[in-house]
Amino acid sequence: MFKITFQTKATHEVELEQETTLLSAAAKGGAGLNHRCGGHARCGTCKVTVLEGAENLSEMGAAESRILKVLKAAPEERLSCQAWAKGDVCCKV
Ligand code: FES
Repeated sequence: MFKITFQTKATHEVELEQETTLLSAAAKGGAGLNHRCGGHARCGTCKVTVLEGAENLSEMGAAESRILKVLKAAPEERLSCQAWAKGDVCCKV
């Protein structure tokens, strides 16, 4: 079991037993992330800043990398719809 923490105005924690995207974890935890394109790595509205546990996320794919480059995202930012968590992660929304 591992834990995903989302820091918004409040802190939302989700305990998971299997890999899932940060976007799905946020929905389970009530963190309410935007996801205008439906999780297809096209809009960038689901972007989060990873504060801890980046090593527990999946590698960045080409589609995610392309959108983050367009958005001029910081290195610690990920698209929550594309980043799969397999261990503890803390991110800021
Ligand atoms: S939901 Fe659109 S890029 Fe993630």
